[in-house]
Amino acid sequence: MKRNATIAAIGAGALLLSACGGGDDDGDGDKVEVFTWWAEGTELEGLEAMVDVFDEQHPDIEFVNAAVAGGAGSQAKDLLQTRLQSGEPPDTFQAHAGAELQDYINADQVEDVSDLYEEFGLDEAFPDDLIELLTVDDAIYSIPSNIHRSNVVWANPEVLEDAGIDPDEVPADIDEWIEDLEKIDSNGDTALSVGEPWTQVHLLETILMADLDADAYDGLWDGSTDWSSPEVTQAFEHFETLMGFTNDDRDGLDWPDATQLVVDGSAGYNVMGDWAIESFNENDMERGEDFIDFPTPGSEDVFGFLADSFTLPDGAPHPDGAKAWLETISSEDGQTEFSKAKGSIPARTDADPDDFPEYQQDAMESFAEDTTVSSLAHGAATPAATLSNIEDAVSKYTTGAADLDELQQTVGDAVAGD
Ligand code: GAL
Repeated sequence: MKRNATIAAIGAGALLLSACGGGDDDGDGDKVEVFTWWAEGTELEGLEAMVDVFDEQHPDIEFVNAAVAGGAGSQAKDLLQTRLQSGEPPDTFQAHAGAELQDYINADQVEDVSDLYEEFGLDEAFPDDLIELLTVDDAIYSIPSNIHRSNVVWANPEVLEDAGIDPDEVPADIDEWIEDLEKIDSNGDTALSVGEPWTQVHLLETILMADLDADAYDGLWDGSTDWSSPEVTQAFEHFETLMGFTNDDRDGLDWPDATQLVVDGSAGYNVMGDWAIESFNENDMERGEDFIDFPTPGSEDVFGFLADSFTLPDGAPHPDGAKAWLETISSEDGQTEFSKAKGSIPARTDADPDDFPEYQQDAMESFAEDTTVSSLAHGAATPAATLSNIEDAVSKYTTGAADLDELQQTVGDAVAGD
């Protein structure tokens, strides 16, 4: 491929540059090893759309894909930690904007990239509250590539109609939704599909968004909402009821498998972030006809926020390659092409909605108008260690090793750091 020839041709030059203190330091040419969990299926297609833009913008830099499969980084994050701790960081890695970054910052594993914000004009391109979320003690440690929404229900209208549910009548809250779930369940179909523990946490967070108002939901993370309050208890009871409608093989399924059950008409509903729309798109299903989507009932004025972002790790072997990648993922073209393929919306405010499919146009509108709250399952609300404790607690509960009271107590304690 053109790349190898280019790499060979510039290899000597790179060596020379590094000897002079510029360029990359291992003399093996200009490249960038990019670590993500976008390894398969529609997520890989999203990454490839970004790489196409990267290749156009930086034709002399080789993209090296270090993706590790597993939704929400379920496998990638541990491997990344091992690499960071043994001093073998990739050139850049995917991390969620918000509390998740704190761990890397505290461990001095990522560098301040605020000078790149200035260089690339990102202070103006990104919304102020996103920059605020990313700023820690006047420094910024990552650059967002896109924004996803977590609180979305995906449904198969045929399954709903078979159970006597009018797909146009979206339930107003979780209690109304439970009535519909019961109808599908009595009709013999899986009412709600879910997958392995992180997707169960994802379901739980959207129930909390539905049952608590935005202030109370935010308060869960800063200590101002009591985890044993009646509203929170109600949300956990709803979680129990909803889990009762789910598929038994859930712990062996990643998100694409769980969403696929709705695509295939084997389940009525699935709750998943809006990357799931690509599972319907790739099957040529038409939104509003072959599938429908709506915010988790009771959370329609809330945008469950998460953003993928990329870092410059301390000791990255190819910092120039990493900077080139950061330039592409923050550029208008990079953000537009990636989000078109991934179901997300650009973090930049200057993207043109007309360039996007209808779903993303709607999501852009809600992001601008709704109240934004932080996703738990995708690193915006809590540090990684807290999320991992919550995942363990949810898994203990859904496999029958703990009861609902214990779950509620343990999740509250995990957030409080007890
Ligand atoms: C999220 C990530 C999304 C998507 C999803 C499923 O954590 O932010 O971009 O990849 O996981 O793997």
